[in-house]
Amino acid sequence: MNFIKKYLTKTIASQLRKPSGLLATKVANKMNQTNGFLYDFTISTMEITDNESILEIGFANGNFFDRIFSASNNLKLYGLDFSPEMVKEATNNNQAAIADGNLILKLGSSDKIPFPDNSFDKVFCINVIYFWEKPADHLKEIYRVLKPGGKFYTSIRKKESLVQMPFSKYGFNIYTAAEWINILQLNQFNFLLTLKTENEPDTELDGTFYKMESLCIVAGKKV
Ligand SMILES: C[S@@+](CC[C@H](N)C(=O)[O-])C[C@H]1O[C@@H](n2cnc3c(N)ncnc32)[C@H](O)[C@@H]1O
Repeated sequence: MNFIKKYLTKTIASQLRKPSGLLATKVANKMNQTNGFLYDFTISTMEITDNESILEIGFANGNFFDRIFSASNNLKLYGLDFSPEMVKEATNNNQAAIADGNLILKLGSSDKIPFPDNSFDKVFCINVIYFWEKPADHLKEIYRVLKPGGKFYTSIRKKESLVQMPFSKYGFNIYTAAEWINILQLNQFNFLLTLKTENEPDTELDGTFYKMESLCIVAGKKV
């Protein structure tokens, strides 16, 4: 890989970790195109019921909160993202739900979640755990903010899918299902189930199409 290509690939990797500056909007729009299928898959796996409180970690520009609201009635949604640019965009993109008090977005990192203990029925994150240097610090916080019996949904691309993407060499922690389940169990969670996507669309990057398969790994907080 020549120097410029390597620089661009590293830039994409760091933007995916934390969209920032002039590229933030472009990166967020590309993620929306690429990850809508995985959002729908995760939302259907969550089997959302009326009146739930749900936290999304790493919502980027908040494009998919509408789809979660459509899944059931009287939901209270919360979001946490550590990119100021993303929090600003997501706030602009979801003004009505925020004004109604049904969506609360915060700037911050998931290893220090700014919500009280036992707050949520469900917590989920999509394409986020790759960037956690010490997963235990994040999982401890997620466990704390879940209600007893609450569930945590981790959606990730399968290892075989992610390693094909050139940017994944730079700063991505890539897990198999077994590796992530082991980490969840070492951090108090009960493992419940893993679901795999079927017929996921290919992802296009720079004119190349990559075959994608993803997982949603479901774990629970003890009652
Ligand atoms: C690769 S993007 C995924 C965005 C979206 N979930 C999707 O799948 O299209 C990762 C997002 O998670 C956020 N993020 C990464 N690490 C985070 C952390 N420790 N705490 C909060 N947000 C984080 C980033 O700012 C970014 O918006």
